[in-house]
Amino acid sequence: MTHQAYIRGIGYYAPEKVLTNADLEKIVETSDEWITTRTGIKERHIAAPGETVSDMAAEAARRALADAGLPADAITHIFLYTVTPDYYTPSAACLMEEKLGIRGKVVQDVNAACCGYIYGLEMARAVIALHPEAKVIVAAAEVLTSRTNFSDRRTCVLFGDAAAAAVVTAEAASGKARVVDARLASDGSLGHLLTIKGGGSGHPYKLGDVVDEEFFLQMNGPEVFKHAVRSMAAVGEEIMAAHGLTNDDIALFIPHQANLRIMEAVARKLALPPEKIMSTVARFGNTSASTIGIALVEARNAGRIPAGGKVLLGAFGGGFTWGSALLQF
Ligand code: UT7
Repeated sequence: MTHQAYIRGIGYYAPEKVLTNADLEKIVETSDEWITTRTGIKERHIAAPGETVSDMAAEAARRALADAGLPADAITHIFLYTVTPDYYTPSAACLMEEKLGIRGKVVQDVNAACCGYIYGLEMARAVIALHPEAKVIVAAAEVLTSRTNFSDRRTCVLFGDAAAAAVVTAEAASGKARVVDARLASDGSLGHLLTIKGGGSGHPYKLGDVVDEEFFLQMNGPEVFKHAVRSMAAVGEEIMAAHGLTNDDIALFIPHQANLRIMEAVARKLALPPEKIMSTVARFGNTSASTIGIALVEARNAGRIPAGGKVLLGAFGGGFTWGSALLQF
């Protein structure tokens, strides 16, 4: 018998400091009007100096564990999805484990860019099918501002820092969601459209080199936009068709929060009305892997998910990676 995977607890953490569009107007040639109309973003949270991905992921995990009613030591696996780990080594997952006061678990960093949360749910589902006693933390955390070029207005207005976590186990509990299915995909031939190259083995620095633009996130926004809409809509249609669902069966759509216009375009293609889109992009900006986890907590806390409701998740990001997941509450 294959064991089902349930999201038993969820939580997120966003740093205290907020950077508003008005603040950005003082840094680059931009305007609140441009950022709001082109992206839907009004503000984003920024990590404090010295605050790392493992700090934020550990805090999100503590909150998810409290929500699940489980002690940290019950955890068997930590998958930390990030493109901005504290270091190359040790992994941010090892540092996170230490900050949770536990040791001896199966822990690893994984890079699936903005799709981390959905990829993570599917990996947790696979682990639970193999080891039904497993209690998996899926964490997604980014300090994207550490790789943001604050002189490039095309990218610096988009990103923020945050972490989200889910505790996934084989036990059902009332009010918790079953991870019904996920469809994941990728296309490395388009990876050059969204990069953070500098410091990697493909773009190493020598002692004394000046850190250049390659060190930071670079993106061909309009191209990414097109692919994001196309791929997220296609994979959403695929998972809905596979489960015989129509738009009426979906209680809420939680897409990756990169740009409100992308979310609305995908929802239109899926024939989902605007009131079924969950959006937190105005308050957090694009926090990469963690956006869906944040929006899931906010949706539940705001009573946007009815008992028994089906929630469709959709993501797209660097790599390119994309995917969709179906939750049953
Ligand atoms: O999370 C990973 C996935 N990422 C995404 O999904 C992001 C996808 N891309 C996007 O969301 C959008 O492409 C952006 C928000 C990045 C850009 O919006 P756009 O509508 O595609 O604008 P654009 O890049 O075509 O630029 C339009 C104009 C340009 O000026 P000209 O050449 O028409 O004179 C830009 O220079 O807007 C200008 N511009 C800005 N103006 C004021 C670009 N950034 C800014 C800015 N403030 N911050």
